[in-house]
Amino acid sequence: MTDKKAHLTVDGIDDPVELAIYPGTLGPDVVDVGPLTKQGLFTYDPGFVSTAACESKITFIDGANGVLLHGGYPIEELAEHSNHLEVCYLLLNGELPNQQELESFIEEIDANRSVDDSIAKLIASFARDAHPMSMLCSATAALAAQYHDNLDISEEQQRYNSAVNIIAKMPTLAAMCYRHSKGLAPIAPDTRLRYAENFLYMMSGEHVSETLARAMNRVFLLHADHEQNASTSTVRLAGSSGTNPYAAIAAGVATLWGPSHGGANEAVLNMLNEIGDESRIDEFVARAKDKDDPFRLMGFGHRVYKNFDPRSRVMKKCCDEVFSELGLEEDPLLKVAIRLEKIALEDDYFISKKLYPNVDFYSGILLKALGIPVELFTVIFATGRTPGWIAHWHEMLSEPYKIGRPRQLYTGSTKRSFVAMADR
Ligand code: CMC
Repeated sequence: MTDKKAHLTVDGIDDPVELAIYPGTLGPDVVDVGPLTKQGLFTYDPGFVSTAACESKITFIDGANGVLLHGGYPIEELAEHSNHLEVCYLLLNGELPNQQELESFIEEIDANRSVDDSIAKLIASFARDAHPMSMLCSATAALAAQYHDNLDISEEQQRYNSAVNIIAKMPTLAAMCYRHSKGLAPIAPDTRLRYAENFLYMMSGEHVSETLARAMNRVFLLHADHEQNASTSTVRLAGSSGTNPYAAIAAGVATLWGPSHGGANEAVLNMLNEIGDESRIDEFVARAKDKDDPFRLMGFGHRVYKNFDPRSRVMKKCCDEVFSELGLEEDPLLKVAIRLEKIALEDDYFISKKLYPNVDFYSGILLKALGIPVELFTVIFATGRTPGWIAHWHEMLSEPYKIGRPRQLYTGSTKRSFVAMADR
């Protein structure tokens, strides 16, 4: 792969340890730390800040320069010229489809949109006030019980069929979770409608304008993949044990639920509601900057982007279109959001720590304008991210792979003898 080497000098080891360096097509080279194990050493990288856990061809991010590429195509160009299902095809196959390939992919998706009645019954068994992510997580795992005929993960065609099935069904599940929480019966998919438009229809029972359908399509597209984030890494790790794709995706849904990840768009809206009025912004910004206060400005900062998240620019444009069509420019929540964004972008604390508004800052406001209730935001993120999760799972299984098994720096007690209860 390369002749470039690193040599690590370690106290107590005579010769420097030679480590191979591999280049990517873009981005930093990686150091193969495998030989360290033979020397009785592990690497230590909490939060995997400096660790490339795998090799992948799907997505590239340059966080310093605000670049996001899928299959080499910039996210801004995909958002402008493509649509979510075409991007799904790109993530799964590595190339954009020609007309005929796209049409047959859409046909396959359309043929798989419906879910079995047993899944509807499972969702109906949840309490109405259960969080929709809880329902989605269970419903996703339950799909494995329905589609065991395509669970031979060593067969490429079966993996592909599972991928199509899960991309097709996720919006149906998401809409069902929502309708159940509102005490409403599910609405069957309408294959005459496009993917995102159909999702809005299954949710509300209403047909939406072209602008709103395009905005929903962009929300899905902008969330489609983001290389080795927490939920995608979880899907890969779960998949590395040989588990079925539905169980692996359920693990991804569970990980996405957290407020530091997919739960952030919900947290943004809750925060904006809590701020409530432009006059209280300074107070919240001061709290975010206070080291003794755990409060953070939700929707700001990113592990990888130390520049504007390119998705947030597109999302912001989308917000403008939707707000203008719906006449919501004077919406108080939007005004708080715009003012907050301005203040944070001009504040030394946020500038010096490179904390820019991330995609969730705008997606929360946009989803609210689309009439989507806050508790469904993370479900929407999960629906959009499903193609990325399943593409990474498929990619991992297409090449030789090992079960993911990190090691640790142990700092607990050294060996000691059991102490009888009476002596403790
Ligand atoms: N508000 C105030 N201070 C912040 C924020 C924030 N939103 N984010 C980071 N900081 C500070 C943090 O206190 C720390 O300061 P110091 O160096 O003085 O200790 C510094 O910036 C670095 O933060 P970190 O937590 O070490 O950075 P990280 O890379 O581990 O965390 C993050 C990234 C996204 C979890 C974090 O920025 C955050 O909690 N943001 C708010 C939640 C949010 O919007 N999450 C959505 C992420 S984008 C969607 C996705 O990809 O899932």
